[in-house]
Amino acid sequence: MSSVISKAMPKHALPAHIEFSRQLAPYVTDSISDSTAQSLTLAQLCQLSNTDVTHTQLEYASIQGSAALRRAIVTFHQGLNSHQQQLSADDAVTFSGAQEALSAIYQSVLCPGDEIVVVTPSYPSLVSMAKSLGVKVREIQLRQSNGWNITFEDFERVVNNKTRLIVLNSPHNPTGNIIDSALAESILQLAKKYQCYLLSDDVSQASNYDDVALAHRYLDYQNSIVIGVMSKSFGLSGIRIGWAITPNKAIMDNLRAIKTKNSICCSATDEALALIAFENSQQILATNNKIIVRNIALFEQFVEQHSDILNWYPPKAGILALVAVKNVQSMRQWSTELAKNTGVLALPSELFGLSGNYFRLGLGQRDFASVLMKFAEFIKPY
Ligand SMILES: Cc1ncc(COP(=O)(O)O)c(C=O)c1O
Repeated sequence: MSSVISKAMPKHALPAHIEFSRQLAPYVTDSISDSTAQSLTLAQLCQLSNTDVTHTQLEYASIQGSAALRRAIVTFHQGLNSHQQQLSADDAVTFSGAQEALSAIYQSVLCPGDEIVVVTPSYPSLVSMAKSLGVKVREIQLRQSNGWNITFEDFERVVNNKTRLIVLNSPHNPTGNIIDSALAESILQLAKKYQCYLLSDDVSQASNYDDVALAHRYLDYQNSIVIGVMSKSFGLSGIRIGWAITPNKAIMDNLRAIKTKNSICCSATDEALALIAFENSQQILATNNKIIVRNIALFEQFVEQHSDILNWYPPKAGILALVAVKNVQSMRQWSTELAKNTGVLALPSELFGLSGNYFRLGLGQRDFASVLMKFAEFIKPY
């Protein structure tokens, strides 16, 4: 007799980059593809502060997130950007990472049959979550031939009356491209013209070591949402706190309600630690950005020495770049051999939606030089 459970389960696949990393995990000791800045230990973070986190009450945090943390979040983004609207703690909500924030935002604003615009290659879930909601994805494809640059015309070509949401991510994972303030303003006007939602994934915006004009005023627009997280520019991925900011009360109500169906609330300890990170953001970001600048210089030299094999566009901001590798048949095979021979993980760009001979380079780690030496041993024979 067939039972109800003999029916196939719905299939949920791991994101491609996570599945690939999982397959290589037995060989991997280092990564040259990390999207995060340098982390601190818990002791190092606590030493920056007079607050004794051991006095944190270990009870449920508030659903929206602690008011003090949300005030710090709003102030932090006000400092990075140029919106005129005075936002309050009520306009922010915390999540267990930026991923939970993105998932809640997609569920909040998208319905099956909608269209969204996403720049590709991309952080994989920006595309896959839309597809699993039955949403059509219109892609703006970045190309190495024009330096991974993106123009207003790229957006004008695909945004129209059917567009429900424009998704931005600057500095961009995985190319390292940026949307500067002038382009941001044009995209904002386009979103207003078509009255669509605008989501800016700003998880690496504070990795702005060259003082590039990255400030935007998206949050002056009623249909905008900005997200951030502890894991990228702060490098504190062990503090599982991300957030969304929106001036739109209806979206905020949805985000809060969706959060109660997922994590309910964040860890009170993580919220207390995130607040310490914000209170010491200048010091943490200055240290992390110095590491990125040093690593960019190291890799520039490295590419000069291996110009017969490698080429890249150094990022102007952010933690990531794509590197082109010449004379490789299959990047998956190349990465697998790299991991098996050296223990170094390099993620091929196809995992982020770009075929071709590229891998994602992470520039945030203090041990970059020593990992690069292992990588150099491997590419020599190529
Ligand atoms: C562009 C982008 N957005 C969101 C996320 C999710 O961040 P987290 O893993 O900290 O939740 C990532 C992580 O790699 C990312 O690169």
